[in-house]
Amino acid sequence: MSTPDDPLVWARDHTPVLESFQEEYGESKPLSGYTIAFASHLETKTGVTIETLNAAGAEVLFAPSNPQSTHGDVVQALDEYDGITAFAWEGMSDEEWENAQHDLLEHEPDFILDDGCELIAKVHADHPDVAANVIGGGEQTTAGIRRLEAMEDQDVLEFPVYGVNDTPMKHFFDNVHGTGESSLTNIAITTNSLISGRDVVVCGYGYCGRGIARKARGMGAKTIVTEVDPRKALEAHMDGHRVMDMDEAAEEGELFISSTGNREVIRERHFERMPDGAILSNAGHFDVEIDLDALGEMATETTTPKEGVTRYHMPDGRALNVLAEGRLVNLTGPYSQGHPAEVMDSTFAMMFMAAYDMLVDGPDLEPGLYNIPDRLDRAVAARKLETLGISTETMTESQEAYYDEWERPEDGF
Ligand code: NAI
Repeated sequence: MSTPDDPLVWARDHTPVLESFQEEYGESKPLSGYTIAFASHLETKTGVTIETLNAAGAEVLFAPSNPQSTHGDVVQALDEYDGITAFAWEGMSDEEWENAQHDLLEHEPDFILDDGCELIAKVHADHPDVAANVIGGGEQTTAGIRRLEAMEDQDVLEFPVYGVNDTPMKHFFDNVHGTGESSLTNIAITTNSLISGRDVVVCGYGYCGRGIARKARGMGAKTIVTEVDPRKALEAHMDGHRVMDMDEAAEEGELFISSTGNREVIRERHFERMPDGAILSNAGHFDVEIDLDALGEMATETTTPKEGVTRYHMPDGRALNVLAEGRLVNLTGPYSQGHPAEVMDSTFAMMFMAAYDMLVDGPDLEPGLYNIPDRLDRAVAARKLETLGISTETMTESQEAYYDEWERPEDGF
């Protein structure tokens, strides 16, 4: 099989917003003089983002947000650039991964673009002298926002952080469409079996779960949703999914996909009820959604029937199959390539804007977690539409005036 001459070419073709930043800022280099730390799953789209930050003048230090998701060819391609330093290699152990993040932080970045709050938590916990001089940060995941909220509640944040995850340009596209399509694609490729006709249980009906469930149904699955939030459960019901508790879902499901950002969502009592041959996977950020410690204790042995699949043999003869060791199935499976490039273009454009806004425009922000300004979100949406050749309406003066009205005009509302 042919290998690409440059592993970033295909991603560049499908990330037109990032490419437009490279064109716009390639000469003026507004990020010159700043060192930006970047943590993410290191594959081709992150490669283009790192390249874009560097093209805009920044020195970039990058480390993986997960030890299993680094693509060696991307690291090698980025190694060719001046001003880009890798703290990553393919096949890192958990310990090497932790150490690499600490090594990166010792290089005293001015700004941190994070995934899962890995670097921001570590810089506060273990490198307080470095944290004291960090200008700001951006966080792209739901899991990372939760940790940042906890840090803010405990009043420990030393610098302002933009919650990029919470912008419409991130969660409506990346979480819903990106996680939805890439999780199902990777499950289908890893198992080489049909989603169509299967009883698919989606745990959690947030942005990711909603995307997974809707797309699974679109592929012909019989979808079941579990939730803890009654409004989300009702939404899933109204969207046409069957909604039930996990005990019942465990008995009915054939394929399980967890995306809650919570722990032990699928646990011992559920393993006891699952049918022989059930497939279990996780799309949530941390590998704690499926309680693999409990499953390991219940099993008599584990085998590997296929690359990326661990089979737990239960004493009663059933076999339960766990994909990608319970880690993010769309990013850490043997064939995974992460989200489609088109959605990461929007997410990473927002990460770029977070750094640009704090470093170049320099808003006066106290330490804390902030929503990214709406004007930046709109600007990225407009740029994305432009690259797609899609036009929108512009309000007329009378329409704008109409929206500003609160007293009943003579000709009525
Ligand atoms: P969200 O907060 O919108 O949704 C999570 C949902 O799970 C909520 O509706 C919550 O009520 C529900 N939930 C919590 N505990 C539950 C339980 N025990 N059983 C059933 N439902 C439960 O979060 P979002 O954006 O959907 O993210 C979910 C996870 O996916 C996070 O860990 C996030 O970091 C991760 N994520 C993964 C991506 C990927 O590439 N695989 C991309 C983006 C986010």
